[in-house]
Amino acid sequence: MTTVRLEKLTKRFGPVAAVASIDLEIASGEFVVLVGPSGSGKTTTLRMIAGLESVTSGGIFIGDADVADVHAKDRDVAMVFQSYALYPHMTVAENMSFALKLRKVPKVEIDRRVGNVAATLGLADELPRKPKTLSGGQQQRVALGRAIVRDPAVFLFDEPLSNLDAKLRVAMRGELIKLHHRLDTTMIYVTHDQIEAMTMGDRIVVMHEGGIRQAGTPLDVYDDPDDTFVAGFIGSPTMNLIDGVAEASGGGPAFGADGLRLALPADHAAARGGAVTVGVRPEFLGLEERPGALPFDGRVETVEHLGADTVLGVATAGPAVTAKIARNDAVRYGAGVRLWADPAKVLAFDTASGRRIRTGRPGTEPRP
Ligand SMILES: Nc1ncnc2c1ncn2[C@@H]1O[C@H](COP(=O)(O)OP(=O)(O)O)[C@@H](O)[C@H]1O
Ligand SMILES: [Mg+2]
Repeated sequence: MTTVRLEKLTKRFGPVAAVASIDLEIASGEFVVLVGPSGSGKTTTLRMIAGLESVTSGGIFIGDADVADVHAKDRDVAMVFQSYALYPHMTVAENMSFALKLRKVPKVEIDRRVGNVAATLGLADELPRKPKTLSGGQQQRVALGRAIVRDPAVFLFDEPLSNLDAKLRVAMRGELIKLHHRLDTTMIYVTHDQIEAMTMGDRIVVMHEGGIRQAGTPLDVYDDPDDTFVAGFIGSPTMNLIDGVAEASGGGPAFGADGLRLALPADHAAARGGAVTVGVRPEFLGLEERPGALPFDGRVETVEHLGADTVLGVATAGPAVTAKIARNDAVRYGAGVRLWADPAKVLAFDTASGRRIRTGRPGTEPRP
């Protein structure tokens, strides 16, 4: 069982800080997903852990060992890439055995391990075949199998499912989760796909511009984003983020964005006043009126029937919003609607910094 710890880990390519002083502790047996848009430093982080990329400053600890001076092949990690990187002239069996042969593992032991892993991955019949005769999904399994036979202390995955079609990707996602439950090995998984991150990670680490913006369980990050970047990146359809101004008027605090006006409870985080961005997830905008709910009036501009859910694009007197409601066959394009949001589900962010505002100022007095 092996922990991984990153301390102020930094990588510069010339003037670019690809990874900017990140701190992260990964527990033994944890499945951690690094997620972020392209260029956020995910691959560079993983390659430094693997020893494939030099470190500019900071430390990497695998178990208790500082691996700064440990060669990649001695780090006891196995990495699976987006490109399968199989040896084309070798059979599936030879591809899977290669690392063990280099380590002079006895042939009977190699055959036993490769046989077991191939059976688990549904590759038993493919062992004599060459990679180019396999489908993309089978090739990805071979790449995975090649990592598993090594029985590493830590698995590193860099977007391993990105080249698969959508259906196979979902199936392989499930298999990787099961594999993790079975092996109980520490896994660090990189993806730009927030749905993959949400569904696979024990914990997700949201990266942006070389830094960690937030780390937590998928649902904690979803429910409680620290800033507008995380709020907008995690979740689909994306959270409605509405820039406006909060002011105290005669009737108490209110939020305004163009013609959209929301009367706020006095203790709402947005009630502190000033340039505020409010955030509300599409599923928290509904057609049913509830006591204390905030009304968003508008006109239906788009209707998407997803089956179980219906997604509405609604033009308000301010910015347009997206609502995700239970299947509704009756809503029509062009209809006037009033959407309701529980104020407790309406988050507030400081527009200038993007940071979450977590507490309101109870009893905000109207300004003169
Ligand atoms: N070998 C390299 N030389 C110069 N810049 C690089 C190199 N590798 C990555 N970068 C830059 O570092 C940043 C992070 O890249 P990367 O770690 O590949 O991001 P991600 O995997 O999140 O897409 C990007 O701006 C990228 O252009
Ligand atoms: Mg990458």
